[in-house]
Amino acid sequence: MARILITSALPYINGVKHLGNLAGSMLPADLYARFQRARGHEVLYICATDEHGTPAELAAAAAGQDVMTYCEEQHRIQHDLGRGFGLSWDWFGRSSSPQNARLTQHFAEALEDRGFIEERTDKLVYSIDDKRFLPDRYIQGICPVCGYPDARGDQCDNCGSLLDPIELKEPYSVISGSRNLEVRESQHLYLKQSALQGPIRQWVDAKPEFSSLARSIAYKHLDEGLIDRGITRDLSWGVPVTRGGQPRPGFEDKVFYVWFDAPIEYIGSTQEWADATGQDWQRWWREDAGAKDVRYVQFMGKDNVAFHTVSFPATIIGSGEPWKSVDNLKAFNWLNWYGGPFSTSKRRGVFMDQALALLPSDYWRWYLTSNSPEHSDSAFTWELFQGAVRDLADVLGNFVNRILKFAETRFDGKIPAGGEPGPLEEKLYAQVAEKLADLTAQFEAIEIRKTAQALRALWVVGNEYLQEAAPWTAIKTDPERAAVVVRTAINLAALYARVSAPIIPYAAEKIAMAVGEPFPPTWPSENIAVELSRLEAGRPFSVPEILFQKIEDAQVAEWTEQFQGQS
Ligand code: 2FM
Ligand code: ZN
Repeated sequence: MARILITSALPYINGVKHLGNLAGSMLPADLYARFQRARGHEVLYICATDEHGTPAELAAAAAGQDVMTYCEEQHRIQHDLGRGFGLSWDWFGRSSSPQNARLTQHFAEALEDRGFIEERTDKLVYSIDDKRFLPDRYIQGICPVCGYPDARGDQCDNCGSLLDPIELKEPYSVISGSRNLEVRESQHLYLKQSALQGPIRQWVDAKPEFSSLARSIAYKHLDEGLIDRGITRDLSWGVPVTRGGQPRPGFEDKVFYVWFDAPIEYIGSTQEWADATGQDWQRWWREDAGAKDVRYVQFMGKDNVAFHTVSFPATIIGSGEPWKSVDNLKAFNWLNWYGGPFSTSKRRGVFMDQALALLPSDYWRWYLTSNSPEHSDSAFTWELFQGAVRDLADVLGNFVNRILKFAETRFDGKIPAGGEPGPLEEKLYAQVAEKLADLTAQFEAIEIRKTAQALRALWVVGNEYLQEAAPWTAIKTDPERAAVVVRTAINLAALYARVSAPIIPYAAEKIAMAVGEPFPPTWPSENIAVELSRLEAGRPFSVPEILFQKIEDAQVAEWTEQFQGQS
């Protein structure tokens, strides 16, 4: 049994996430966690809200709340929505936790002790009208790289360049809109990433498992040459800057930069989990406490890759301490919504609360898996979504309902006895074995779209078997033959519940309940003849309610209209 640590990028606290956020980090992480648990491995799936920094302050101000109350409320909302989508986090923490503050301060001190931190005097933008420094996102202006007019102080949303706020052209204050800005001096801590260039490149070189997207982004930054990064900000909401447990002189009004403390929260959230449950966090994170045996997989959108292949490794490696680092980094492209990416700031697309109000989570999970923005961007349209749900209903829904209904009418709601498997069953066993091996391999390789394709192929095999074996015809002349087919097909439905659970856990559970299969399930073995005779003759079953309701054209028209303002 392996120990597998899984993290998905921490969603910003500022508001409900959209389906693009879900598709590009939390959902694929959940699929992988559910699969590996079913395989019998010890899995820890950690996530949290990313609560510090200007986005949180701005959103709280817009909501008319103090930032702590705002974060608490939004954390609860995001937690509940995630659970509504079936995300099986072992812990969904908060980067504002005391655990994360302690760790962040610890890392900064360890880095400083090893000479990787220095104080520098920054020239920063000060807003005379707002009477404060304007870090990062409080400033917007024209991107110096691509000319995008609304680039943020820290990053351009259009070309992805990481920016320094004073590079922006024609800057203005996001708080007041004022252009009455001047440059003033302020002391800040810098992490000397340039001094870590060699060790970080060696570290990336030693990570052959990273997805090609992740590797290319990492090498792009390394080839350009790493620059030293300011890791403190003139803000009040964040982790206080300390030295030896005391406020650091000259830094009383400053906090650590949100991108410094956020990835540390992967460890912080694990500590929150350990503190709440009496578990040991060190065996997951400290190589001197057993974490060498852990396999660590991270899931994230491509905009997060630089922070996870350069900045966070700089923190970990620079500390000189034996922290576990990521083995496989799976990065995703964008989910597009009618011609442009889903976007929180522009309210483009469907958001998690809206999605759940329309349809059960499995419908969305299936679509976002089979159309995962994995190797390239992918699109969400209502018509494509309607088609995917129709297919799900036709291929899996029909199979389960058809066989269980027939068996209920003809065999009195019990798995029938009699007969022996024949050539058609032998053929089925071989086909299921082949498709199951493919599905298992795709899950192991974290090929998200291909898991959906392989799963569907497995469902198709069952439909073809039923079509060919035709128990509704056999029953008229050869009841024993019909009994074999029905028994085999119900066992196949049970197998479908087990292998579909990572992607569509709610429907899988309904099928499992109907046929008396335990849930959450274990992954089937390669011995398909045995797997398809697990449920013995005489066992009662029920017919589940319709698993998937098709989406009518009228609904598509209605939702298109309803969400028009969001495109
Ligand atoms: O892009 C984002 O949504 C960030 N909040 C991701 C942070 S991931 C981790 F480093 F915390
Ligand atoms: Zn740009």
